[in-house]
Order: sequence, then C-alpha cells, then structure tokens
Amino acid sequence: MNSLKSVMRSVSRVTPTLSRALHSGTRTSSAASRAKRVERPLTSEEVYNREERYGAHNYHPLPVALERGEGVYVWDVEGRRYFDFLSAYSAVNQGHCHPKIISALTAQASRLTLTSRAFYNDVLGAYEQYITSLFGYDKVLPMNTGVEGGETACKLARKWAYTVKGVPKYEAKIIFAMGNFWGRTMAAISSSTDPSSYDGFGPFMPGFHLVPYNDIAALEKALQDPHVAAFMVEPIQGEAGVIVPDAGYLTKVRELCTKHNVLFIADEVQTGLARTGRRLAVDHEAVRPDLLVLGKALSGGVYPVSAVLCDDEVMLTIKPGEHGSTYGGNPLACQVAIAALEVLEEEKLAENAERTGAILRAELKKLPREIVSGVRGKGLLNAIIIKESKDYDAWRVCLRLRDNGLLAKPTHGDIIRLAPPLIIKEDEIRECVDIISRTVMSF
Ligand SMILES: Cc1ncc(COP(=O)(O)O)c(C=O)c1O
Repeated sequence: MNSLKSVMRSVSRVTPTLSRALHSGTRTSSAASRAKRVERPLTSEEVYNREERYGAHNYHPLPVALERGEGVYVWDVEGRRYFDFLSAYSAVNQGHCHPKIISALTAQASRLTLTSRAFYNDVLGAYEQYITSLFGYDKVLPMNTGVEGGETACKLARKWAYTVKGVPKYEAKIIFAMGNFWGRTMAAISSSTDPSSYDGFGPFMPGFHLVPYNDIAALEKALQDPHVAAFMVEPIQGEAGVIVPDAGYLTKVRELCTKHNVLFIADEVQTGLARTGRRLAVDHEAVRPDLLVLGKALSGGVYPVSAVLCDDEVMLTIKPGEHGSTYGGNPLACQVAIAALEVLEEEKLAENAERTGAILRAELKKLPREIVSGVRGKGLLNAIIIKESKDYDAWRVCLRLRDNGLLAKPTHGDIIRLAPPLIIKEDEIRECVDIISRTVMSF
C-alpha cells in the first residue's frame, strides 16, 4: 500500500520543487525509477495521454492542460496564459484562487474540517444565519454538489405534497422544463430531454413530467393536475445553450404556482450568485421562488458546496434521519461559502457582470452574421451561435480561440458559452472582444 501511494504521488504534480520534496522520503526502487521519469514538468500532450490512459472517457476536454489560475486567467503546463471564458461552468464567479476564499479555506482547514452532522460544529450555524438572511428564507439545507441540491429540492417537494398539500402517498408529480440540465444522477437524467444524458441508463424515475420551456400555456395546463407538487426550472437554461426566456416568464410561473398551490423551485446553480447581473437571476423579475437551489459559485470554485433554501412550511417536512450527507454543512465548506458570498457582495460582482456583460454582447453583435448568427445572454452568462460551414464549426472556433489566448467550450454543437469570472474589468473584456473578433474573422 505504501509503495502504491508513493507511486501515485510521484506521478502526480511534478514541478521540480515538488519532485525534490517527494524524493526525500523512503521509497521502493520501482517507485524511484518511475519518479525519475517525471522529474520534469509534463508536456500538455503527456497530460492528455495520461488522462486518456487512466481515466474514464466520460468527458471530451478541449486540448489544453492547465496548472495554475489567478483571477480571470489560467496558465497551462507550458506557461501559456489564457482568459478563462468558462469559469468552470460558472463556479469560479469570484475569479480563480480568490485570496479571501483561499484564506478562509486554509484557516479552517487546519482547525476542523469535518464532524459529520452527528455532532454540532461551531461554523454551520453562522453560515446558516448568514445565507438565510442574505436570501430571505427561513432555513437552509446544506449539501455538496449542485445535483444533490436538485435532489434535495425534489425530496422536499414530495414530502410537502404528502404532508401539507394532501397529495395521495406516492402520487406526487414534479414538472420540469424541456432542455433542463441539473446534473447526472438517476433522478436528474430522468427529467432530461437530452439523449446523451439519459440514453442507456433507464429505467427512469417515475412521477417526473415535462413541459416546453418558456411556454406558459403548457405549464398552466400541466398545473391543473392536483397531484403536482412542484415545477422546477432554471431562470435561464445554461447547459441547453444559454436560453433566455421571454420577459415576464418567471413572473407568470410564480403566479401560476401560487394559484395552483404548487412549489416553484428555481434551479439557480448556474444562473445564481451574480452571474446574470443580479444576485439571483429571478431578481430580474423580482420574483421569489418557494425553493432556491444554489451550488457552483457558492464556494467560488474551491470546494463542492450546494444549498437549498426555503421556508419552514416546506423545510420542516423533513425530519431528523430522513435526509442528509456526510459532508453537507461541514465547517470547511461553511467558511468557504461565507467568504464566497461576502466576495460577491463586497466586490459588487452582480453590478460588474451587468455592466461588462452589456459591453460584451453589444460588441459581439457587430460580428458578421454569416459566421456568428446569434448573440444572447444576461450579465456574464452569454453565448454566441456559430453558423457552421465546411471550414469552421464551434469546436474549431474554440481551438483557435485557445491559440489566441481565450478558453471557451462549445455546447450542443454550434453554441459557444462565454462566461468569464465576474471580476473581469472593462479593459479586459474589450481585449477579449478583440480576441474573439480576430478569431472569428480569421476563418
Ligand atoms: C442549472 C444546473 N443545475 C445543476 C447542476 C449540477 O451541478 P453539479 O455538477 O455540481 O452537480 C448544473 C451543472 O452544470 C447546472 O448547470
């Protein structure tokens, strides 16, 4: 076991300093010879090959091997610098390695990291108090990943349907919008309309139903059914390609859910936390969901932290022992989340996203329509649509953007999401517009 461990360590990160530190320990001779082979930093090619060889093939990354990040920038193993225009799918809203978040992480990491919820810890309550007062809900239920937040919201909705609304046991329905994305668990893929998410993984979760996104008439029809517990929806569909619904959609969703005694669950895992130019995307229409799901930027990209917020009528339907997670609400996560939320507020990142996002869209709309057939988004959650030809498509545009110093990733073939960290400054966004324009015009 010891020798396996040292082999694993020796083939991990291999800056010269780290290699020296590793080589000072006692090792078996086979570990030593392997370690020798990696005494220089890996090339990008070597990084790709190692992942290809030892990792599951459930991703198709853009070929770039990153080793460092700071603010709006990331660097690859050969020292090339890039603007990060994905921000880890909107988890790194506060910028890479934000000093305040990292210092909260390191301070707590050497004090107490995990107690499980079998015991109280001295940070969880402070976090609960802070986040509930910031968002205006009675209570929070802490989890880790975004998809666990979605699962938790669905469980709360079902429990509420049986214990408060009076839906006959196990007949509750949850309505989702077509094109939704909320993760990769069995429940999440059971509501998916994307074959690459669900195909081959059935049988699926019962009690899930779909209506078209941005279609109020269809929702109204679905809500006639008295067994409906909840409607779960993203205020802007991120993974579907940054689909922005009509103005007034969320207001109508709120009205209909209230009218039919159905819970409105807003999945703000991607749109929340200043990304779209407001603290929450629902704030654009000043609507208050019954359940709010947060994740990603709740830790600024340093640790998996998610949360469901709602009022007592819903939250207290789940009793001790009925739901939980070993890591949910651990003191490390709580300190990180407090710091991450404080950064959003102190640095006015929603305001910055609103302002720089408007500049980005206005400039991108000047690009030739024959290549960029659409520009859409809100705040700094944006997308361009690439009109494919034999010479270019979204993937090839992203490869050339990379060569020009900007990282973005295609989604659904022809769409490129443009979502930099929210700390980006006006001169930087203008520099990025130049890179994007130059790249698009080079085809
Ligand atoms: C809207 C939305 N909800 C939920 C999730 C799932 O989050 P996680 O990958 O942390 O489970 C995602 C991830 O992209 C998302 O975009």
